[in-house]
Amino acid sequence: MAGIVTIERHIVEQERKNPGATGELSDLLYQIALVAKIISRSVRRAGLLNILGTTGEINVQDEEVMKLDELALQTMINAFDHSGALCVMASEETPDIIPIPSEFEVGKYTLAFDPLDGSSNVDANVNVGTIFSVHRRVSRGGRGTKNDLLQVGRKQVVAGYVMYGSSTMLVYTTGQGVYGFTLDATVGEFLLSHENIRIPPKGKTYSINTGNRRYWTEGIKKYIDYLEEEDKSTDRPYTMRYIGSLVADFHRTILYGGVFMYPKDMKNPKKPSGKLRLLYEASPLAMVAEQAGGRASDGEMNILDIIPNDLHQRVPLFIGSKEDVDQAEEFLKKYG
Ligand code: AHG
Ligand code: MN
Ligand code: MN
Repeated sequence: MAGIVTIERHIVEQERKNPGATGELSDLLYQIALVAKIISRSVRRAGLLNILGTTGEINVQDEEVMKLDELALQTMINAFDHSGALCVMASEETPDIIPIPSEFEVGKYTLAFDPLDGSSNVDANVNVGTIFSVHRRVSRGGRGTKNDLLQVGRKQVVAGYVMYGSSTMLVYTTGQGVYGFTLDATVGEFLLSHENIRIPPKGKTYSINTGNRRYWTEGIKKYIDYLEEEDKSTDRPYTMRYIGSLVADFHRTILYGGVFMYPKDMKNPKKPSGKLRLLYEASPLAMVAEQAGGRASDGEMNILDIIPNDLHQRVPLFIGSKEDVDQAEEFLKKYG
C-alpha cells in the first residue's frame, strides 16, 4: 500500500476484504479516530486549559480522578452513546455498565475502554493513552447487559490504543494484523505510518516497576536477576525501561521487543492479582500483541483465554516478545 493512506481509506480497504461487512464496524473505527483527535487536542493543551490536576473525586479503582480522565471519559461516552453501533459500554472510571440512553438505537457491539491510561503522569507531560476493546454482543436484543461485556479476550473484534506522545498514534487490529497511524495535526488526519507492526520474537529490554521488588514472588525475583546477569550469548544483561504509562511501555515493547510486566502484588495477599485490569487494559493489548506475533500471559495462562467475572477484574500481566514471555512463565512455573 503505497503513498498517503488515511485511516478512513484504510478502513474502507479493510471492509472491502470482508464481503459480509455491514459497515457498522467501520463506523465504530471512524468514531474511535475522531475521539482520538478530540482527546489529543485536550491533552496537548491541558496545561493551558486548567484541566490538569484532579477533580477531587475518587473513582471505582479507589484512585484520584484527574480532570483529563473525566474529560476523556465524557468524550468517549458522548461520541459513542448515539452511534447506533453499541448495545452497552464499560469504562475504568465507571463502577457499573454504561447503558445506551433509551432515546438512542442500540447496535450489535460492545465497547470497553480505559479513557486515559497513565493519567497520574499527565501533569508531568509524560505520554498517556486511551485503550479500547470491542466485542460482538451475545444477548439477543434490546439494551446490552454486563454479560455482553464479560467475554473472553479471544473473541474481540477490534482492539487497540491511542498514544498521546511526541506524536499522537492510533494502533489497532481487527484480527488481520496490526496497523499504526500517526496524526498529522496540520490536516487533522491519521496517516498510515506502520503498515504491519511485528514484534521481534525476543528483545533485550524488560519493563517493570522495580520499586515493588519486595512484593514480588520468588519466580519474578529470580527472572529479573537472570535478566540482569551478564551473558552476551543471550543478550544479557537486558536494559530496563519503565515509563509508568502502560500504553507507552507497551508501544515501546511491540516496536523494539522485550517484555513488560506488572506481576502479582503480594503486598496485599488478599488481592494478589496485580494492578492492571483485564477488560480494558490487558485483554485489548494482548490481542494487539498476539496479532503482532507476540503474546500476553497472567504468568500461568494466555490473557486472551481468561473469562472475566467482573468489569474491573485485575490480572497480573506479562506481555511482549513471545520468547521473553515464555521465559517469564518458565521462571514462575519453576519458582512460583
Ligand atoms: P490508569 O492511569 O489508567 O489508572 O493506568 C495506570 C497504570 C498503567 O498505565 C501503568 O502501567 C501502571 O498504572 C503503573 O503503575 P505503577 O505506578 O504502580 O508502576
Ligand atoms: Mn490504565
Ligand atoms: Mn485510566
